Amino acid sequence: MKIITIKAASAAEKSVVRCRKKVMEKALPAALNGYRGALIFTDTNVYGLYGKKLARYLPGVPVFAMPAGEKNKNAETLFSLLGAMAEAGLHRDSVLVALGGGVVGDVGGLAAALYMRGIACIQVPTTLLAQVDSSVGGKTAIDFRGVKNLVGAFRQPALVLADPAFFGTLPRREICCGLGEIVKHGALSAPLFERLVSAPDLFDLGFLAGIVPENIAFKADVVRRDPHETGLRKCLNLGHTTGHAIELCTDLSHGECVLIGLIFEAELAKKYAVCDGAYLDELIALCKRVLSCDLRSVDVSAAAELARLDKKNETNGRVVVCAPRARASYALLTLGYGEYAHALAEIKEKLC
Ligand code: NAD
Ligand code: GLY
Repeated sequence: MKIITIKAASAAEKSVVRCRKKVMEKALPAALNGYRGALIFTDTNVYGLYGKKLARYLPGVPVFAMPAGEKNKNAETLFSLLGAMAEAGLHRDSVLVALGGGVVGDVGGLAAALYMRGIACIQVPTTLLAQVDSSVGGKTAIDFRGVKNLVGAFRQPALVLADPAFFGTLPRREICCGLGEIVKHGALSAPLFERLVSAPDLFDLGFLAGIVPENIAFKADVVRRDPHETGLRKCLNLGHTTGHAIELCTDLSHGECVLIGLIFEAELAKKYAVCDGAYLDELIALCKRVLSCDLRSVDVSAAAELARLDKKNETNGRVVVCAPRARASYALLTLGYGEYAHALAEIKEKLC
């Protein structure tokens, strides 16, 4: 077991992320001026909600909409998008705009990284999760052969334009998903944790708009210090080994699974690591304040089996877990597969 404590930011981040109002009306049209050719990549839901605004403020810019949802974060969608980019005549000095949640951002970012060996990508994140996490940091990917994010690339966006106005159309469940990654950041940053535990209503849109910049700054600083996840950036995988495995065997969303993963991995820390039990109970209570799904529905034996495929694992078949253990500190636990599966079953019984 290895214990790591996250130190506060050492220097101000010179980030490509801009939190702006009226992104669709002003900031995005202005940003496109600098490029010769653009394609807007979005999904069918976002297009249904914002298609008219696109036509009004970005007339003549071609749009390609993928079918919404994680199940379409795949090679077929990626290659359809690459085809649309070629048909739109994009060149090396063109730009792809990824307007949507984390799925659109991840697929769009990867297509931009691949097309002509890499063109610019502007991320316009429209979910809370995408604004606080997935649009920042340059991880792009598709799911492949039943493994989350198996095929991807690190490539930083040219610009990220985050506008809280998009939260106005988000269903409550999507707010819960974004809060999943926000709580994860809270488990790594003591000041953010305090703001979250003392917030009277975590779902209040004004409160959320206020904490987006703090989340972006936290993540951008971690990425600046370790862009390719050789060390520090692994902290951002907190809750994700178990979370990704649950995501692959339920119809729950990524953010919901991160919250469940955080709960299970906090319990793993209690079992296997030197930890602050009172703090972990506070963190678990925070996760439960956000989650609306029932932990009894989680098939832990299927999840344990799927966790064997996780990218973070060691080649000897042991499962690697980044578990929260104390304020702004986590433990890298390496568990034998059988031990991990048994522990998940025990934890589920305790929690339900
Ligand atoms: P998503 O992209 O599927 O969006 C969730 C739903 O909200 C979709 O149905 C979408 O159409 C809809 N939607 C988007 N914007 C909307 C709006 N403004 N109003 C109403 N509906 C809207 O999911 P997500 O939660 O945004 O992202 C999850 C994905 O992000 C996962 O694939 C996950 O692996 C990935 N992710 C990537 C990173 C990274 O660093 N690259 C980090 C975290 C998560
Ligand atoms: N969401 C994990 C990372 O960006 O590293």
